[in-house]
Amino acid sequence: MRALPQEREYVLGTGDDELTRLGFQHAVWSGYAAEAWEAAGFGPGQRILDVGCGPGYASFDLARLVGPAGHVHGIDLSARFIRHLRGEIAARGIPNVTAEEGDLTTAPLPADSFHGAYARWVLCFVPDPEAAVRAVARALRPGGAFAVQDYSQYDAVQIAPEDPAFARIFPAVVRAWCERGGDPNVGAALPAMMERCGLAVTHIRPIRRIGRPGTAFWQWPRRFFDNFLPTLVDAGLLSADGLAEFDARWKEWERLPGAFFASPPMVEVVGVKR
Ligand SMILES: C[S@@+](CC[C@H](N)C(=O)[O-])C[C@H]1O[C@@H](n2cnc3c(N)ncnc32)[C@H](O)[C@@H]1O
Repeated sequence: MRALPQEREYVLGTGDDELTRLGFQHAVWSGYAAEAWEAAGFGPGQRILDVGCGPGYASFDLARLVGPAGHVHGIDLSARFIRHLRGEIAARGIPNVTAEEGDLTTAPLPADSFHGAYARWVLCFVPDPEAAVRAVARALRPGGAFAVQDYSQYDAVQIAPEDPAFARIFPAVVRAWCERGGDPNVGAALPAMMERCGLAVTHIRPIRRIGRPGTAFWQWPRRFFDNFLPTLVDAGLLSADGLAEFDARWKEWERLPGAFFASPPMVEVVGVKR
């Protein structure tokens, strides 16, 4: 289905395929999200902002964490994702989640009102991430924690054994991403950025995972390739032959004992409002 003209799409799109991919992505990364929430001290009764919530897969887990006395508010640029999230809230009868369409850098979020905020793979797509961090810091109450999980060294992604068919793909991905104003290494700048925005950094840890053929995590990059690589061909950043060669090689890796995929390095950072 074509996106509506007023839809504000981030670089990976907001169609049905991306909505489904984000659901699968949350399923294979939800344990890591829970660890960030624990590091940030999220808990029952709190008001949490889900920054760039997408279709709300993490929002519902957060809602269970804060319980009936707490509340989760999601904000996202995509009208389509917010419509989906509101539909799920209504269909499941969930009283403690609300959703707002808006750009987090300019939305009039109430000041000093949230106990915590969470942003996973959002700041890497925002053209002015520091303005976004400042906006979230303003919305937090003093002592409130902002937990972020985002890429810090995207081009260190690896497939093993190494192969030139793979090496051609990621520079094209990074180019498309940067052309839309994103920064696939934003995590490296984030702790200093938080400090400049009035958040004291209390926690930083690296995150990197290995996927092996036959595991659910091996499907994580594959779903991304299926959705995104054809758009690189349309944009002239990757040749159709290059994509076909890559797909054929991927099928071979899948059968190769000892093959693995190493995810792009990420950081998990928690900053607490002074
Ligand atoms: C990769 S998705 C991640 C969604 C969700 N955080 C998750 O982990 O499932 C990135 C999301 O950021 C949203 N986004 C990008 N720029 C934004 C902005 N300036 N304000 C609000 N949302 C934004 C996109 O619309 C998209 O839903």
